[in-house]
Amino acid sequence: MRIERTYFWSMLQALALLPTMALKDAQMTTKRFSEEPEFERPIGNHTFSLGREAVLGCAVTNLGKHKVGWLRAEDQTVLTMHERAVLGARYSVNLDAPRTWQLRIRPLRAEDRGCYMCQINTQPSMKWQIGCIDVYVPPDIISDDTSGDVSVQELENATLTCKATGHPPPKITWRREDHEPILLKKPLSRDFDKVESYVGSSLPLWRVDRRQMGAFLCIASNDVPPAVSKRIILLVNFAPTVKVPNQLLGAPLGTDVKLKCYVEAYPNTINYWIKNRGEMLLDGPKYTIREEKSSYKVSMWLTIRQFSRSDIGTYNCVSTNSLGKSEGTLRLYEIKLNSYAEDFSNQISVAGGLTEAAKGNTSDPLYSKRTLLSILLCYITYWYMLT
Ligand SMILES: *[C@@H]1O[C@H](CO)[C@@H](O)[C@H](O)[C@H]1NC(C)=O
Ligand SMILES: *[C@@H]1O[C@H](CO)[C@@H](O)[C@H](O)[C@H]1NC(C)=O
Ligand SMILES: *[C@@H]1O[C@H](CO)[C@@H](O)[C@H](O)[C@H]1NC(C)=O
Repeated sequence: MRIERTYFWSMLQALALLPTMALKDAQMTTKRFSEEPEFERPIGNHTFSLGREAVLGCAVTNLGKHKVGWLRAEDQTVLTMHERAVLGARYSVNLDAPRTWQLRIRPLRAEDRGCYMCQINTQPSMKWQIGCIDVYVPPDIISDDTSGDVSVQELENATLTCKATGHPPPKITWRREDHEPILLKKPLSRDFDKVESYVGSSLPLWRVDRRQMGAFLCIASNDVPPAVSKRIILLVNFAPTVKVPNQLLGAPLGTDVKLKCYVEAYPNTINYWIKNRGEMLLDGPKYTIREEKSSYKVSMWLTIRQFSRSDIGTYNCVSTNSLGKSEGTLRLYEIKLNSYAEDFSNQISVAGGLTEAAKGNTSDPLYSKRTLLSILLCYITYWYMLT
C-alpha cells in the first residue's frame, strides 16, 4: 500500500510539480520549512443516504505549491488529484474557497461506505487525515426469506417470518391489520398475552388458536424513510363447532318462531337446517333461512312462520367443511295460552321462555296487561316442562 501511495505521489509530482521544482528548488526548500501546510480541522465522520451525494471537506492552510489528493483509505485507490477527478464520473473535487478541498461522491452507493484519506504531498513524508462516511439504506423486505400466506391446523405451531435489508439493520415490527391486539400464548399456559405489536424477525405462534387468524403486517423500519411492510395472512383450519343459545323453545301456536345457531369453522362451511332428522328445510313461504358471516364465525337463523302443531319437533342446524361436520339440536314445543291471551298470541314469539318484542301498540294499557299475563303463563309452562 505504501508503495502504491508513494508511486501515486511520484506520478503527481512528475505531472504537476517537477518543472517548477527544477527551477525553484532552493526557494521551495526554504518555504517548506517556514510555512508547512496544515490541516485546519478533522474531516469528521458523516452519514449520507443511498443515492444522494456525499461531501467530505479537507481544509488545508498554507498549501503553497503543494497539492491535495483524495484516496479511498481501504485500498489506497486515488480518487482525485488536486482539482481533477481521476476515477470515474461519480467522483468529483472542488475547492470550496478559500481552502477546503471537497470530495463529492454522487450518486452514493452502499459500497461507498468506508473511510477516505485526504493527502498533501509534503516532503519528506506526506501529511494525511482520514474521515469516514456511512451510507444509510432504506429498508427493503426480502421476499424470498419472508413468509407467504400461512395455513395451519388449529393447535399446530406456526411461525411468521420477515427479513429485510437496509442500513442500519431494520427493526421488524408485527401488527394485525385490523388493529386488534396480537394474541401470544404464554409459555406453559392456556392464557394469552395481548400485545399491540411484536418486535422480531419471526413471530412464533405456539399451538395456534382460531382467534389468531387474520392478516398480519410485518413492518421494516430504520432511520431512513420510508418504512416498508408486507401483509401476511394466517389461516387457521378447524372443523365446525356449533353453539345453540336456546336448545328448548316454546311458542304459542300461530306465532313466528326464530331458531338460532352459532357456528365457528374454517375453511368455509356449508350450513343447513333439518327437521326431525329427516328433511332439509328450504327458504320459502314457511321457513326463512338466514346466515351472517364474519371471518370464521357464522350465525344461522331459521324462522318458522305460523307455528302449528306439525312444526313441533326436533330441529338441527348442521355445518360441514372439509375438516368435519357438526350440528346443534333444538327442540320446539307448544306453549298453551288461555283464551284470554290467545287473541294476541299471533303477535308474541317466545324463545327459550323469553318473550320477544311483541308487535303492536305497547302503550295500550289493556294490551300491556294481557301481554304480562301471557308472559307469566309462558314462564309457568316452561318451568313445568323443565321439571
Ligand atoms: C470515524 O469512524 C472511524 C471508523 O468507523 C473510527 O475509527 C473513528 O474513530 C471515527 N472518528 C470519529 C472522530 O468519530
Ligand atoms: C410446538 O412447539 C413446542 C415448543 O416449541 C413443541 O414442544 C411442540 O411439540 C410443538 N408442537 C407441534 C404440534 O409441532
Ligand atoms: C297507542 O295507543 C295510545 C293509547 O291508546 C294512543 O294514544 C296512541 O296514538 C297509539 N299509538 C299508535 C302508534 O298507535
